[in-house]
Amino acid sequence: MRKLVVKTTDYLEGNISVSGAKNAALPIITAALLGEGSSKLSGIPDLKDVNNLVSILSNLGAEINFTDSELELNTDEINKYSTESDLARKMRASYYTLGALLGRYGQACTVLPGGCEIGNRPIDLHLKGFSALGAEVKLDHGVVKLEADRLKGANIYLDYPSVGATINIMLAAVMADGETVIENAAREPEIIDLANYLNIMGAEITGAGTDIIKITGVNKLIGKDYTIIPDRIEAGTYMMAVAAVGGDVVIENVLVEHVRPLIAKLKEMGVEIIEDINQVRVKSNQGLKGTDIKTMPYPGFPTDMQAQFMTLLTQASSENLVIETVFERRFGHVDELRRMGAKIKVDGRSAVVAQANLEGAQVEATDLRAGAALIIAGLAAKGQTEIQNIYHIERGYEDITDKLKGIGANIELVVE
Ligand code: EPZ
Repeated sequence: MRKLVVKTTDYLEGNISVSGAKNAALPIITAALLGEGSSKLSGIPDLKDVNNLVSILSNLGAEINFTDSELELNTDEINKYSTESDLARKMRASYYTLGALLGRYGQACTVLPGGCEIGNRPIDLHLKGFSALGAEVKLDHGVVKLEADRLKGANIYLDYPSVGATINIMLAAVMADGETVIENAAREPEIIDLANYLNIMGAEITGAGTDIIKITGVNKLIGKDYTIIPDRIEAGTYMMAVAAVGGDVVIENVLVEHVRPLIAKLKEMGVEIIEDINQVRVKSNQGLKGTDIKTMPYPGFPTDMQAQFMTLLTQASSENLVIETVFERRFGHVDELRRMGAKIKVDGRSAVVAQANLEGAQVEATDLRAGAALIIAGLAAKGQTEIQNIYHIERGYEDITDKLKGIGANIELVVE
């Protein structure tokens, strides 16, 4: 059994480097299926989710070599269009294969992704997009089957600016006949990164990063080399750790405009932020002022930073309000923080967080970002914290234990 043992840490200092973005890597690796020949993708983080996706795509016949953040993928031998497998069942982002395989081969099949700890997570908007493009959509015993002779461009309005649905529709539409317009599209930086890669391969996409994305279908895409963006959520997690514990740390490999909402909030709390071209220096000593957050689609405050920020608020003065508008059940970390003495009142999607002196305890990660929140709590708490179910954390944070140790964190991976 593997767990993280985290002990009181008084001060974090030094430099810490951010890896490539998990939520850009997953769609971009899948998008490589659309290109003839080989793509070489750089800055790919070595994460469980990425390695699971590599296995899923290899099972389709793609030839993949992934070492030292470089992933080479060749599509010449692809001969399967169904990812029905236990791996796909565990790996939500496997549903990006629907858009890519439908877009290139006119057929795709995978298991319906289940709900998870943070919500039901339906894919109705993805399927609405595929149908609008002319695909026949069949749901059969938890399996999605898509078929289309020829996809035709369409105007698609997203009832919610879903990141996944925006991505899946882009993947299906790049080689459809004519123009596709996605209205109320997601605006996350990972969408822009995907559009940049697809355009280098020969696609014609404009408006990525705005709420209107236009795609003019082309006949084929060619595999190309591309380097993905750094992970803004990983960067934000380390920024919040320094703010909560106290210290002076330079976080390297950060696109500052991608962490603007967090920078604004940390400044409201009295944390000193010094911005540079691709790094952020965070200086914090105790005496944090309180603030409120409300999670929103980009460019609002990211839901993926909500759990970590809630831990930070336990170290701040006054009572602070956290409202989670994106997912219906993303407070799994609250009960675990309460075990450590946190004073948090929850009412639906709102939580009021009061100042508390956290004490080490036995806790468990309930999802990826909740796990990160517990690491921060363990560093700020008095005594020793043991975190179970750390596979959640390893899905999204490359080398987090060694990276945090590098700035003075008292954290160990223990295998019993
Ligand atoms: C992506 O999930 C990210 N995952 C999530 O990060 C992130 O929290 C989320 O976007 C929001 O930013 C990846 O990129 C792999 P959505 P996704 O579709 O695409 C509802 C992490 O920690 N919805 O924007 O699933 C849905 O239920 C993960 O790295 C529908 O109703 O997010 C949710 O309430 C967690 N119907 C809301 O939209 C649909 O068809 C946002 O979901 C699709 C979504």
